[in-house]
Amino acid sequence: MTQTLTIRRPDDWHLHLRDGAVLAAVLPETARHFARAIVMPNLVPPVVTGADAAAYRDRILAALPAGMDFTPLMTLYLTEATDPADVAAAHAGGLIAAVKLYPAGATTNSASGVRDFDKVRGVLEKMAEIGLPLCVHGEVTDPAVDIFDREAVFIDRVLEPLRRATPGLRVVMEHITTSQGVDYVLANDRDLGATITTHHLIINRNHILVGGIRPHYYCLPVAKRESHRLALVQAATGGDARFFLGTDSAPHVDALKEHACGCAGIFSASNTLSCLAEVFEAAGALDRLEGFASLNGPAFYGVPANESRITLEKGDPVAYPAKIETGAGPVTLFDPGFALHWRVIP
Ligand code: NCD
Ligand code: ZN
Repeated sequence: MTQTLTIRRPDDWHLHLRDGAVLAAVLPETARHFARAIVMPNLVPPVVTGADAAAYRDRILAALPAGMDFTPLMTLYLTEATDPADVAAAHAGGLIAAVKLYPAGATTNSASGVRDFDKVRGVLEKMAEIGLPLCVHGEVTDPAVDIFDREAVFIDRVLEPLRRATPGLRVVMEHITTSQGVDYVLANDRDLGATITTHHLIINRNHILVGGIRPHYYCLPVAKRESHRLALVQAATGGDARFFLGTDSAPHVDALKEHACGCAGIFSASNTLSCLAEVFEAAGALDRLEGFASLNGPAFYGVPANESRITLEKGDPVAYPAKIETGAGPVTLFDPGFALHWRVIP
């Protein structure tokens, strides 16, 4: 008998959709399986104001193929000049679901991010007051800190002081990659959640660096050693509702990945659910995939879980294309390095 798994339609709580030709090509890859996604604001220039978010949302909806049902949940990019009143108005109007904090220089297109946290105090206090979550890219940018330590140092140096200074602020630690990130979430039972990506459940730093440098496995935060990957798998599959899926699917065209200074970002929208089913099955936790992908995120964000369902079916390995074409050039799809037996029934 064929093995199937039916779950509520999932959401992606951390997604890069880009703009223009890349948006048009990658959006259906997410909308095919996901009902909603938190859309990252790190365009060039970034999505900073409510007006920027409204215009970007309109471009996303215009790029959505007819017949596909998908709701983009918009975010604002926090800058030192962000106006608390603009944020509050965008939230009150139902336009935005979160604000994104990038430490300046931490990752792709983060030059407009925050350097001096005192300058964003007013915005953070307003967000705590109105219950608007802050999504945090949790890495320090201090050149003296080793890239593999930047998440752990961020927790002590930035995140803990920031949360202490702003009681009631709801924070999502985005794309955690370390056991320290897992432990910090577990030690704090209020107002804190974390997203985990598909690829960080599958690759460690050896995948990037052993036997040649693999630019399509390079992302930020960079994958850490195997013990950290195992901690992430335990967190994702363990049933704790504070951990939920944010794929961080982050397309860059191959010409910018296969480069002397390649961009950070892994594109995983198309095969994420097949990958996750393998990870959860291997952990003996297929029954917890729905919590991770479809229930815990809505609970944290205070929105209902989706009513519709999707069904995954196990069978012969599914063939995904190695790349998807975009009007700007090909984008390579994440290769988990093992066969994928689970497919979403269309
Ligand atoms: C993201 C991107 O390409 O925009 N890159 C990445 O490696 N994850 C930015 C981010 O989320 O850090
Ligand atoms: Zn991201």
